[in-house]
Amino acid sequence: QTATSFYAAIGGAETFRRIVAAFYREVAADEVLRPLYPEADLGPAERRLRMFLEQYWGGPRTYSDERGHPRLRMRHNPFRIGPIERDAWLRCMRIGVAEIEPEVLDDEHRRALLEYLEMAADSLINSPI
Ligand code: HEM
Repeated sequence: QTATSFYAAIGGAETFRRIVAAFYREVAADEVLRPLYPEADLGPAERRLRMFLEQYWGGPRTYSDERGHPRLRMRHNPFRIGPIERDAWLRCMRIGVAEIEPEVLDDEHRRALLEYLEMAADSLINSPI
């Protein structure tokens, strides 16, 4: 039996639901990001990102059941992502993470989560501007 997953350690589904809901609340009001999202309804995109993050951190594998291999570089190709878009994405995500109380997300887990999100956002830059 392995140690408790990171997913479980930070409060499981409810924590991811809250982070990603806050993220999309910010995206909806962000003039850089909002135009990038093709669908009028951000609900389906919210669900995909939530499922992906849950799976990445050891939660349910619903993302891959529904979407197959993540292939995030490829799936982001349709969108021009330069440093400005990366920064906007991270700004919204940091707000979402900041809304989770320290009792739920302690410093060590918070640091690991933010480090991952920064690394992942950098890795999806596909344009120099
Ligand atoms: C999808 C933008 C970074 C994970 C999308 C979509 C957009 C977008 C416009 C399409 C919405 C949809 O239909 O789902 C961006 C921008 C980023 C960024 C501007 C800035 C760097 C990230 C990062 C992750 C991520 C860092 C993961 C940690 C996803 C996932 C999907 C997605 C899982 C849905 C893929 C699918 O199954 O179709 N992103 N994204 N994105 N993004 Fe990002």
